[in-house]
Amino acid sequence: MNIQGSQSEDSGIALLTNNDREIYSVGISTGGVAEIRMAEASPKRHIIATTVDEEGVDFAQKFICEKHLESQIEAKIEDVAEPLPYNNNNFDYIYARLVLHYLPKAKLDKALAELHRVLKPGGKLFVVVRSVNCPDAKDPKAKYDPETSLTACEHTDEQTGETHTSIRYFHSEESIREHVTKAGFIVEYVKSYNERLFTDFMRTKLAPHDDNVVELVATK
Ligand SMILES: C[S@@+](CC[C@H](N)C(=O)[O-])C[C@H]1O[C@@H](n2cnc3c(N)ncnc32)[C@H](O)[C@@H]1O
Repeated sequence: MNIQGSQSEDSGIALLTNNDREIYSVGISTGGVAEIRMAEASPKRHIIATTVDEEGVDFAQKFICEKHLESQIEAKIEDVAEPLPYNNNNFDYIYARLVLHYLPKAKLDKALAELHRVLKPGGKLFVVVRSVNCPDAKDPKAKYDPETSLTACEHTDEQTGETHTSIRYFHSEESIREHVTKAGFIVEYVKSYNERLFTDFMRTKLAPHDDNVVELVATK
């Protein structure tokens, strides 16, 4: 397997320290690549990596087993918008790259409140979301719903002619900072940059253009 990394993935992994033993990865990466990097860097780490995608969890599990990391990485189906089955102050580090933008604003607030509850005092929250400067957010045909802050954008696959609709909450630095602060976190920094993302979870189709993401780090 040769799945490419990215600036924001590297950034989230570089922030981990030797003291970060219990990690919660919301929305597992394709094939568990990010989680495998975290586990290989320190055999003492335990990572719970979640997804709402049955196929994605099986695919990741296969690669985790091939690397003999199943005792360190637990991949499972779990919706971050639901109450989380963990004790208060359970995790040292929460990694949430390119996942929280799928939540409408009310669910995002509930999810962040839960993430705050399960993070240890002094622990870190790492968030990357798509920004309002992504081409999809600016597409004149995109439909924005002010109730949820979600934008629906229709895409047509040039080869197959099939269409699918992607629905996301495109954030500004201010909007994600506001949600995270409201949940009780202390924001350390927020920054935006361009990144070439994949259009599919399997990271097989690179987007034809750069996207823009917001990266935020907060503590409790
Ligand atoms: C674009 S992928 C990003 C994955 C990974 N964090 C990365 O950086 O490559 C989004 C992932 O989040 C998962 N996901 C979407 N909504 C979710 C939710 N409500 N709770 C947990 N995972 C979710 C998807 O199933 C998928 O695994």
